Amino acid sequence: MNYLVDENGFYGEFGGAFIPEMLRVNINKLKNIYNKYRNDSKFQKLYREILKNYVGRPTPLFFCKKYSDKYKTKIYLKREDLNHTGSHKINNTIGQCLLAIKLGKKNIIAETGAGQHGIATATTCAMMGLKCFVFMGVIDMHRQEMNVIRMKTLGANVIPVSFGSKTLKDAINEAIRFWINNNKSYYLIGSTVGPHPYPQIVSEFQSIISEEIKIQLKNEGHLNPNYIISCIGGGSNAAGSFYHYLNNSLVKLIAVEAAGLGIKSNKTAATIACGSKGILHGSMTIILQDKYGQVLPTYSISPGLDYPGIGPMHANLFMKKRVNFFNVTDKEALQAGYELIESEGIIPALESAHALAVLKKISFNKNDVVVITLSGRGDKDINVYKKFYNL
Ligand SMILES: Cc1ncc(COP(=O)(O)O)c(C=O)c1O
Repeated sequence: MNYLVDENGFYGEFGGAFIPEMLRVNINKLKNIYNKYRNDSKFQKLYREILKNYVGRPTPLFFCKKYSDKYKTKIYLKREDLNHTGSHKINNTIGQCLLAIKLGKKNIIAETGAGQHGIATATTCAMMGLKCFVFMGVIDMHRQEMNVIRMKTLGANVIPVSFGSKTLKDAINEAIRFWINNNKSYYLIGSTVGPHPYPQIVSEFQSIISEEIKIQLKNEGHLNPNYIISCIGGGSNAAGSFYHYLNNSLVKLIAVEAAGLGIKSNKTAATIACGSKGILHGSMTIILQDKYGQVLPTYSISPGLDYPGIGPMHANLFMKKRVNFFNVTDKEALQAGYELIESEGIIPALESAHALAVLKKISFNKNDVVVITLSGRGDKDINVYKKFYNL
């Protein structure tokens, strides 16, 4: 079964590039430059060198002894939180900024929800001498204030988006609008969403995660994991974690969406549980929409998962039943996050805490090898933990 993109930019019935004609030239140039460099040994060498010496890869695969004892199975955490800037997002921004430079672009546009993609973009731009503009919903700016300060400190121009949902969806809308009017800029998408070739580009830059997991598990004496578990917003950390196991049916792949206050509450971001087929941000996928096709407002305590769509690759993996989707409420995520803090001394991002909460929903065998991607660190969420636990 081929779960990867086809030559027309589709994953089964999902994907494609549903964009205004004005962006067609930019998208075609991006496709050509990516096809030229994706297997170019010099480009790959430079990308890998930056990941090693600047980002700090490979990230550890940490065996959690206490956690494993508690859940009576073997639990490993893939520590993307230990990357420079504190999440997996930088794997993608380094790669895409290198492409932008190849395209001769000097201005980078990005959107951000949790702020982690914004930070990674601002950091990479500072390092590579590029100008950075980050669009962010005002609700997210408020709840991720520390990340806004970090982006500004890094020299980024943070542009508040104060209409619509005031969160990630409208930050992306606004970034695309800005791009249409400033098409000399490079639009650096932060997840496996958007028109082809973005989902392909982001998933391939993030595939370093499962490339490393494979090697690291072998060093631990395990041929394959039994489970890989990732949280899912647009789908970049999940795509990266699953990538090299997609055709290995021995490995169960699990993606965890944000249920917010519950999938029946209307205050949710669980796209797969509550959504249907539709077009969002230039690609055919599964989205949250009403019966008139209007995109619904979303809610989740974790801004990085607070998005009414999912990448086309994941929509296809769901339809083909290759990935099993779970959803987790705010409360379950907060409890799971705190459990990790107490058990292992690691503060997870609220996004990653959703993946951890699934441990309570599956019965594992004692010899199962369970890998959970810890997509980011929770410094940015410290006030939410503080409030919930009355610290
Ligand atoms: C730490 C962290 N994890 C996960 C996500 C969700 O994004 P994705 O599904 O693209 O990995 C985000 C998004 O901002 C994030 O910051």
